Amino acid sequence: MASSSSSNSFLLCLLVTTLLVFSHVDRSEQKVRYHEVSLHSSFPSKACSTSSSKHSAISNVTTTLRVVHRDGPCSPLQRRPALSPEQILGKDQARVNSLHRRISGVSASASSSGLQPEAAGVTVRKGSPVATGEYIVTVGIGTPRRDQTLIVDTGSDITWIQCEPCVVHCHTQIDPIFNPARSSTYSNISCSSAFCSELDINGCDSGSGNCIYGVLYGDDSYTTGFYARDKLTLTPGDEIADFRFGCGQNNLGLFGQADGLLGLGGDKPSLVSQTREKYGGVFSYCLPSSPSGTGSLYLGGYPSSTKVEFTPMVIDPTMPTFYNLNLKAISVAGKPVPVAAAMFKKAGMIIDSGTVITRLPPKAYAALRDAFRLAMSRYRRAAEVSILDTCYNLTGYGSVTVPAVELEFDGNVKVALDASGVLYKASESQVCLAFAANDDDDDAGILGNVQQQKFDVVYDVSK
Ligand SMILES: *[C@@H]1O[C@H](CO)[C@@H](O)[C@H](O)[C@H]1NC(C)=O
Ligand SMILES: *[C@@H]1O[C@H](CO)[C@@H](O)[C@H](O)[C@H]1NC(C)=O
Ligand SMILES: *[C@@H]1O[C@H](CO)[C@@H](O)[C@H](O)[C@H]1NC(C)=O
Repeated sequence: MASSSSSNSFLLCLLVTTLLVFSHVDRSEQKVRYHEVSLHSSFPSKACSTSSSKHSAISNVTTTLRVVHRDGPCSPLQRRPALSPEQILGKDQARVNSLHRRISGVSASASSSGLQPEAAGVTVRKGSPVATGEYIVTVGIGTPRRDQTLIVDTGSDITWIQCEPCVVHCHTQIDPIFNPARSSTYSNISCSSAFCSELDINGCDSGSGNCIYGVLYGDDSYTTGFYARDKLTLTPGDEIADFRFGCGQNNLGLFGQADGLLGLGGDKPSLVSQTREKYGGVFSYCLPSSPSGTGSLYLGGYPSSTKVEFTPMVIDPTMPTFYNLNLKAISVAGKPVPVAAAMFKKAGMIIDSGTVITRLPPKAYAALRDAFRLAMSRYRRAAEVSILDTCYNLTGYGSVTVPAVELEFDGNVKVALDASGVLYKASESQVCLAFAANDDDDDAGILGNVQQQKFDVVYDVSK
């Protein structure tokens, strides 16, 4: 949301309302001003535990997928060595920069990438955020079905996988590369199809008349190939016929051995839009609260044990990929942080599964940080870690008393963050406030995945 003229369009966007729901898995801590957190129990475990979200019954849900952290012990991808906190936070900043570039309308440059727009007749309209997604799911594509291990991303739309023949680059992936020639349900989408023209980046292979898709991520990584249809098997027996996806024959980037990406954004090519008849535009997730836990992605509803609170969500018609919500206020240890609501409103806020740390307008961040430092004054400060400037050295402590942080959204929806959404563990004895400032007051705030931990987050895109 850049200038004042675009804040008008932001208001107009209220016409398209969407509901977003937060529900705490455990409501008992709601009025707590401080959390006592043991420093030992909350360290990531090396073993995979499979019970982070047990729900007895699920309302309206027809499909549940298991979500795991891509670098955790439950992940089929075994990235070695694991990324350091500095590397994770550095990549996170690259994603945030690319989100801000896309929102402010700075178009992606294809010149430095392998997309070669002139040569292939590819039109680049928009780039996509850096694919840093932290969470993965496994689905099947084709007949017979072939497993695909995909990064889950609410910040982009098109789903893609690597395909044979790999003509220029393919990254090393966990599963065998998909061969469309061996799937009896595969078909190419033609250049004249309306599905081809709704892509952010498309082109036409003049020889075959087949649609070429491209996705250019903010770090110059990319995927391009044929835009295709095939059967998507979400869970055994739960199939989407003629699912549209990119069959990537030239894929360059740090996708961490994943076979591709599952796009859950709000625009037409996304899984959510393609399955709107079946699932009503409703999906929800409970992200694993530690890398060694497992979470769930639900299509069509949310667990019936979830007590829901709704906040209006806003979709900007010029950027339908992103899910926006209105943050109104923040409190620390039960006291409101002094920030004018207009400051949050000016910037707006995106909820994103692929951003790690929540970003706030600079003055809002400074007010939150000051209140947090005051409440943490008994602990010894430590050096900053990448983008995190409020860190503590907890050597010698068995536990830490963390001030409660509550976010208030439009519609009087108060989200009391879990302690794991307040402190980011940078090392065995060092923790940091898990928020960061944007560069500019106009840059959109982003609600990151650290803050979403321990919540069922429900997106009702239709309603
Ligand atoms: C679930 O189904 C019931 C009954 O069909 C309906 O009233 C309700 O709105 C649905 N909830 C969602 C989230 O779709
Ligand atoms: C899809 O297009 C590619 C490239 O033109 C071609 O090699 C392949 O045979 C086509 N597949 C089908 C099923 O038509
Ligand atoms: C924390 O303090 C201990 C002991 O005072 C010191 O050895 C250690 O290097 C410090 N750690 C950090 C990350 O500052």
